[in-house]
Amino acid sequence: MSTARSLSNTDPALRRAWHPVARSNEVTTTPRVARLLGEDWVVLRMPDASGSGTTLAAFLDRCPHRLAPLSAGTVDGSTLRCGYHGWCFDAAGACVEIPSLGSAEHIPPRATATVPAAIAEQHGMVFLAPELPRTDLLDVPEADDPTFVHGALEPITARVGAGLMLDNFLDIAHFPFLHAATIGTPESSTFDFTFERRGLGMNVNSRHPFPNREDPGVAAGIRPLIQERLLEYRYRAPFSICLRIDYVDAGGTNVLDFYVQPEDDDQCRIYTTVHRNDLGGDEQRLAECVAFERKIIDEDLTLQERYRDRRLPLDLTTELHVKADRMTIELRRILGELSAPVVTGEQHA
Ligand code: FES
Ligand SMILES: [Fe+2]
Repeated sequence: MSTARSLSNTDPALRRAWHPVARSNEVTTTPRVARLLGEDWVVLRMPDASGSGTTLAAFLDRCPHRLAPLSAGTVDGSTLRCGYHGWCFDAAGACVEIPSLGSAEHIPPRATATVPAAIAEQHGMVFLAPELPRTDLLDVPEADDPTFVHGALEPITARVGAGLMLDNFLDIAHFPFLHAATIGTPESSTFDFTFERRGLGMNVNSRHPFPNREDPGVAAGIRPLIQERLLEYRYRAPFSICLRIDYVDAGGTNVLDFYVQPEDDDQCRIYTTVHRNDLGGDEQRLAECVAFERKIIDEDLTLQERYRDRRLPLDLTTELHVKADRMTIELRRILGELSAPVVTGEQHA
């Protein structure tokens, strides 16, 4: 039996990391279930006691009383009231009311709903870390930049491996084959990169010539067909990444972010948004960019969903590697570090 290391969608090491669990606009004062690493969480906005705002909150979808799903509960004042026997929990998970308690009884100290170690909201997304995260949230400044327009794709549920999806996003040699009908051109298959490790993540930069067939300046004879572009990949373990493309000659920037939520061993939810500053506020063109991006992702999913084993190999001897695979080798190294046993001193209480 092989003992080679690999990363499944529900590897326990992934508990010590940030994961996307919803788009911001999906989270309201109505409890919502988010599946993550084979567990259900309830995500919602709890009204503040002052009534002036809400607090983003999450609970394991299991009431400590009879383990009923808390997602069947409702917001009551600034608490979540379990739908079964009405116990109420505040945003920190503390039980603040048990309706059936007699006047001489006290709320048991263990009457606490499990909350994640951390929850955060940025760039229109909600993130959760079940245990103290060893990873950083991905910063995408363009997502909050008013000079960009933002086209969010509908979240996609797919039967894929999260590690394999990130491998696919960082892979540069598949464009001419898997994407022959969209972005694949023979010229686009290999580039030179510079790497910079950022904790459990990396930034990768490249500057290279490419044929800019979409530039109207080429047809007008203002610019040559072969132009320069800058690529910057920003990756943060385990499954968040964005790609920024700057068109040096024609001008303009195209940013694509990509987050994968590992739901179960066989299923993920994928969030991606296109950020552009070169569309002149044209909503129709933005909608076309979003539809085109969806088409490219569907090309990738057609292959990814055919993998029977959805784990990402972390043992570098399991697969074969060539020079064009340098970025995806680094991905395996970073995820290998995340999934390695926590050494003493790094252990969080
Ligand atoms: S199961 Fe939640 S209050 Fe009883
Ligand atoms: Fe692809």
